[in-house]
Amino acid sequence: MKGIILAGGRGTRLHPITLAVSKQLLPVNDKPLIYYPLSALMLAGIRDILIISTPVDLPQIQRLLGDGAQLGLSLRYARQQEPRGLADAFIVGADHVGDDPVALVLGDNVFHGHRFDDILQEQARDIDGCVLFGYPVTDPERYGVGETDAAGKLISIEEKPARPRSNRAIVGLYLYDNEVLDIAKNLSPSARGELEITDVNRDYLERGKARLVDLGRGCAWLDAGTPASLLQAAQYVSALESRQGVRIACIEEVALRMGFIRAEECRELGERLAPSDYGRYVCAVAEEFAAHSTVPHP
Ligand code: G1P
Repeated sequence: MKGIILAGGRGTRLHPITLAVSKQLLPVNDKPLIYYPLSALMLAGIRDILIISTPVDLPQIQRLLGDGAQLGLSLRYARQQEPRGLADAFIVGADHVGDDPVALVLGDNVFHGHRFDDILQEQARDIDGCVLFGYPVTDPERYGVGETDAAGKLISIEEKPARPRSNRAIVGLYLYDNEVLDIAKNLSPSARGELEITDVNRDYLERGKARLVDLGRGCAWLDAGTPASLLQAAQYVSALESRQGVRIACIEEVALRMGFIRAEECRELGERLAPSDYGRYVCAVAEEFAAHSTVPHP
């Protein structure tokens, strides 16, 4: 399965913070926002990833993450001249996707939770149609909203409805089979002139090929698109990290635990980031892993 991170847009809801800096490079506690969606794809086992952003922001994102080889990944980059809606990712990214299924994650979505990696890996296996993830929120009118029947079958999807039929927001992480490329190519722009991801998902729904999987109460999903939600995400991450002494979305640690890099390589990455606390953490994780792991590198 291929991955796409959509990190475009003007971040207007964060102005003036994002007038000169890409939203996806803003800090969420101890690391840039883009580390969170990137680690979600890595936890799904995806290593071949395209990052789409604006011509202005792309070089900075590239400076941060490079070609991904240091993390055992292959990262490629594509420009989106103008924000044309989320589904445009499948037009810009068609060559990258090729004949494979694909996971799309939005660059400002933060995920964390117990068994989140298991849920993703299970859903990404043998995908036929599309898999959407639902999450209960108090303000569903801000999101795509999914409604299910008594048996849990998805029956409607609406984008930012004034009167939501449920409290289940559809999170910014979507799994599709390869048909998504054709669906996106044939999509008409919405009233606001954008290629809407909700229209793609509805196409699958109408053909009985869309599923909604609940992330459940054990998971956290935060979007960092406004000053309040950015702060809330940072507070969440900070509370957990300082209490437990582990880090959320530490991409070096994820790469190590997923078997994408060796402990020695992880330690070198940590040393490059020293003397920050983050860098020391990466070194400590690598050392602990090397001391306790008997699993050979694949
Ligand atoms: C987009 C989607 C929406 C989804 C949300 C998740 O909205 O259109 O369906 O629920 O991402 O973050 P946006 O944040 O671009 O307004």
